[in-house]
Amino acid sequence: MTKAEPRPLPVAKLLLPWYDRHARVLPWRARKGETPDPYAVWLSEIMLQQTTVATVGPYFKDFLTRWPTVEELAAAPIDDVMKRWAGLGYYSRARNLHACAVAVANDHGGRFPDDEAALQKLPGIGPYTAAAIAAIAFDRPATVIDGNVDRVVTRLFAIETPLPLSKPEIREAAETLTPQKRAGDFAQAMMDLGATICTPRNPSCNRCPLETICAARAQGIAETLPRRAPKKARPTRYGACFFVTRPDGAVLLRRRVARGLLGGMMEVPTTPWVEVRSPDEAHMDHAPVKVKWRKRLGAVEHTFTHFHLVLTVFTAEAKAREAASAEGIWTPPEELDGEALPSVMRKVVTLATEGL
Ligand code: ADE
Repeated sequence: MTKAEPRPLPVAKLLLPWYDRHARVLPWRARKGETPDPYAVWLSEIMLQQTTVATVGPYFKDFLTRWPTVEELAAAPIDDVMKRWAGLGYYSRARNLHACAVAVANDHGGRFPDDEAALQKLPGIGPYTAAAIAAIAFDRPATVIDGNVDRVVTRLFAIETPLPLSKPEIREAAETLTPQKRAGDFAQAMMDLGATICTPRNPSCNRCPLETICAARAQGIAETLPRRAPKKARPTRYGACFFVTRPDGAVLLRRRVARGLLGGMMEVPTTPWVEVRSPDEAHMDHAPVKVKWRKRLGAVEHTFTHFHLVLTVFTAEAKAREAASAEGIWTPPEELDGEALPSVMRKVVTLATEGL
């Protein structure tokens, strides 16, 4: 099979003028002629890990308004950061975000380092994020490869090896494309191309600035790439949550342990989440207070990266004496919205309070 070989210069030469005309306007992006703020670039890249552009937008603006500089974020209580992060998922990112702000403020005089190696020494900054910050904030010729770029490069070079096996091949090919000048714009142009033209289904090849040099287009296989190794099925886990109120209306919450899934976030007290469904009576061993529990109709379902979760929800009203024996944090209902409650727990609160 013959492979067209996209050469580096034509790619940047074709892509950058396209980017000048079609760049998406995104809240964290410097406009033409503006100098990017490394703090804003870093904040956006951490938020954009595993989270979509549309979801990140309001969170990014809220963080930047609340904490306009890295020093202000470093000085914020970690609990406030976790609360403002609630709903974005992957909560270790929020803890690392704060730890990174503290490190930049204390050890780097409030300035982000401008090279990949130094950036990678900071909490929460891996190879991808280091490359993105080096390129976008400092215009270093770093090669930035996210999911969109994977797809663009795979098609450009007609790489038929399935993902994730093809990752090293993609990196090698991508590195040949990174220009010495305007590397930040180039990285963002590749992302935009993947998000708007070189889409997973129905790519708009006839509007693509790289159409003439795309090997997959030439072979008529663009839409079939990237190939993927078959995914493992996502298991389902089961558990129950206990939503209990006190006579004054306060709701019992607990803080999850710092490590692991939803680490450090608040929860409605819950059983362990396991791969077999337990009878309702078995859940009662985990109830936070001995009261009369009622089971809510329906269940809460939530999909995490590695499993799907089905939660039964029990509700109860505890008398003052019973409530006093419970371990946890009694939270006034009007404060629930401001708590660091992850999305799955917001769903539990919604089901528990429906019709009340
Ligand atoms: N995804 C990750 N980083 C991004 C960026 N800087 N612009 C658009 N999408 C992104």
